[in-house]
Amino acid sequence: MAGLRAGVRGRPRRGGPLSAPAVLFLSPVARLGGAELSLLDLAAALGRAGFAPRILCLGDGPLVDEARRMNVTVEPVAPSRLFTRTSLRGARTGGAMLALGLLGALPLVAAIGRAARRCDAAVLHSNGNKTHLLSVLVRRRPGVRLVWHVRDLLPERAVERGLVGLANRRADALVANSRAVADRLRRLGARPGLVHAVPNGIDLERFTPRGAVADLRGEFGWPAATRLVGLVAHLAPWKGHAVFLRAARLVGAHHPETRFVLVGAEIYQTRGHAGFERRLRALRGELGLDATVAFAGERRDVPEILRALDVVVHASTDPEPFGRILVEALACERPIVSCRGGGVDEILEGLGMAALSVEGGDAAALARAVEVALDDPARAAGWALEGRLRVAALFGLAQHARAMTRLYAALGVSAHER
Ligand code: GLC
Repeated sequence: MAGLRAGVRGRPRRGGPLSAPAVLFLSPVARLGGAELSLLDLAAALGRAGFAPRILCLGDGPLVDEARRMNVTVEPVAPSRLFTRTSLRGARTGGAMLALGLLGALPLVAAIGRAARRCDAAVLHSNGNKTHLLSVLVRRRPGVRLVWHVRDLLPERAVERGLVGLANRRADALVANSRAVADRLRRLGARPGLVHAVPNGIDLERFTPRGAVADLRGEFGWPAATRLVGLVAHLAPWKGHAVFLRAARLVGAHHPETRFVLVGAEIYQTRGHAGFERRLRALRGELGLDATVAFAGERRDVPEILRALDVVVHASTDPEPFGRILVEALACERPIVSCRGGGVDEILEGLGMAALSVEGGDAAALARAVEVALDDPARAAGWALEGRLRVAALFGLAQHARAMTRLYAALGVSAHER
């Protein structure tokens, strides 16, 4: 790997004798989406591998409690309102607003710098676009590595090219959560050798086929034998909830006893995202689905929820960067209907379940695939079993943590033997 440098293994630290190298993770939000859940799992796994992980997150929220529950040190810092609403994703923020947002973010840059010095960070590991941007402004001590964990398929536009240009100059590694994201970064001009595709890992002991089952049917007053189809994703337009609702209406026409559930909340308050739940509830009413589709809100019992679903739907209308929920669902041996593209194709590569992958945005195709899974449960179960085996072989948390420690080592940061 390019850029091998003098290691920090054994670097005498101000804390006295050799101690575990500190990794300061930077999270742009304190809510819990796939990106944040993946970050928490990684941080905890690195803690077990001899590193000292800590998370600095912008704002306060469920991520803070969850980190504490997992014994990962976490420090929330308050961002300005303007910076919170600045977005590269929802309704994109214009150049002038972006500049203003950045100006308002200078105190955050200082806070990151202080946190890095306090824990004597060996690595700054940023988990989202906003903290990527802030991280390049932080004055780092010599030898402190900067890693960006890129979990978005960045559009091929000038702002994103600029972002990647900054990475070329300032970052030591770009971790992409799928090969699709890695390819996109290269197309955006990332220099060779900087980009590393490292798929997410999930906890294969939590996400298991057998175990407690959430009583969703009881919660919504549906009979225990009700077939249940669910979409588990934070509420954002590109996750395809509207397409799911349209598909639910089509499936409901042939399977009137089937019920549908949306699990997730609005977690990003950026323009174009905020207010989405209200719009979705209105659409549910317009489609006449108030009695058959339920909103379950934000939930922490995702394995239990997955085990309660007969079919798990992934409906993203943009190519999915990775698709963590698919790996979780497969680990629980659930049949999944998904939308092709991005990381989804990599997860489903070679699996029978890929037959239930459709074009994003096509409600009729989505409905047909859901019906295949509902009508032929034996075949769907066979595919699901195969899915669990693939996930166990390729997407375990231990494997993910090993890939990351190898990458850190190549950057000169290694945990001390214990
Ligand atoms: C982001 C991506 C999603 C991925 C998650 C974890 O939320 O949109 O596809 O699963 O990060 O890497």
